[in-house]
Amino acid sequence: MTYQELPRSEAVLEFEKVKKEYEQLCEKGLSLDLSRGKPGKEQLDMVSPILRALEDTDEFISEVGLDVRNYGGLDGIPEMKRIFADLFGLPEKNIIIGGNSSLNLMYDTITRAMMFGVPGSVRPWRKQEKIKFLAPSPGYDRHFIVCETLGVELIPVNMTPTGPDMDQVEALVSVDESIKGIWCIPKYSNPDGYTYSDETVDRLANMHTAAPDFRIFWDNAYGVHDFDQNDHDELKDIFSACKEAGNENRILYFASTSKMTFPGAGVAMMAMWDDNLKQAKKLLGAQTIGFDKVNQLRHVRFFKNAANVHQLMEKHAQILRPRFELVMKKLAEGLGGTGCADWTKPKGGYFVSLYTMDGCAENVYQLCKTAGVKLTEAGGAFPYGHNPRDNHLRLAPTYPSLSDLSDALDCLVLCVKYACLNKILNG
Ligand SMILES: Cc1ncc(COP(=O)(O)O)c(C=O)c1O
Repeated sequence: MTYQELPRSEAVLEFEKVKKEYEQLCEKGLSLDLSRGKPGKEQLDMVSPILRALEDTDEFISEVGLDVRNYGGLDGIPEMKRIFADLFGLPEKNIIIGGNSSLNLMYDTITRAMMFGVPGSVRPWRKQEKIKFLAPSPGYDRHFIVCETLGVELIPVNMTPTGPDMDQVEALVSVDESIKGIWCIPKYSNPDGYTYSDETVDRLANMHTAAPDFRIFWDNAYGVHDFDQNDHDELKDIFSACKEAGNENRILYFASTSKMTFPGAGVAMMAMWDDNLKQAKKLLGAQTIGFDKVNQLRHVRFFKNAANVHQLMEKHAQILRPRFELVMKKLAEGLGGTGCADWTKPKGGYFVSLYTMDGCAENVYQLCKTAGVKLTEAGGAFPYGHNPRDNHLRLAPTYPSLSDLSDALDCLVLCVKYACLNKILNG
């Protein structure tokens, strides 16, 4: 019987029991954190030999004869491009290698569009009355913050297990010329862990947009982050799909090695078809003489090829799998059948979404905080930090040790029950 179905007297008893357990837990003085979507120390230690990849060598020349220690090579060295091209099925010549952060490339891309427009723009975006982006929600808070910072209005659209609600997306973009873009995390999305279906990819590539300069920001941050290489999600190639649809300027593709090697010290890339590429290179050339090619070569020497990246990702998966299995086990044991919450069951990536009864997520967040368990703020994964249903929490199980994770999940389960029973009994 779910909590909602319990006779009131039994719900009261259950609430008293949960409340007592919670009070006892608070006395323990926990200090745990489920909010950080970053690799744990074991993962970082595993890739640290990359720092020695250029030790004991005098060979710093890229295959095109460029000395990586010197200026030159604005769009990166070809051997780094090739690794990304092979990983994501992209044409090597359409890739630009950036610095240490794909988010930085996305921010700069929108900034350039604001300043100069993009191929197809009638005028720079900043000279148009209003610029809007679609924000599949829940989504990645930093995508939303980029728009909020640059004065781009965010329009939430629902996220579903097959990607953004495409009926909503098509209805909006087909009539509103001020909608210039959509944020997409197409594989193991942050925070749900969903992968876009082939149909979603095709509809995005083919849909009619009122704006002639509409762009898909395709942030494939978790594109090779499967937990099990024999049982993983497949993502259709949107880069070719856009070209086949005659909408090749629409797609802007981003990725990085942040969660392969080091977050903050990896290598980022973007890919785009020729018109966008030409404009981006021209404008980038005013921004920088070139990005960090020494780090690119370090990555190339460490990886050698895409097959080795996949092998490394399998080792990451061995570390991550038990953490996600623990999340599934604790949530199923603690909340299964209560009707208090549901959760996503990703096959890769870095996050799990926990969906509580409507109107409970903020309370769960506060209860956990008081008990010493930090979660990402309720509403944090929605534009402007506001989830009208107040029903979502993002869980990030990769960073804590297994034993800390276990304690944090026990606390979370208790807080979800507490908030849910409180809502049922007290409204
Ligand atoms: C969806 C998504 N995109 C981008 C990033 C950041 O990537 P980078 O380190 O390449 O800036 C993250 C980090 O959590 C992410 O979840």
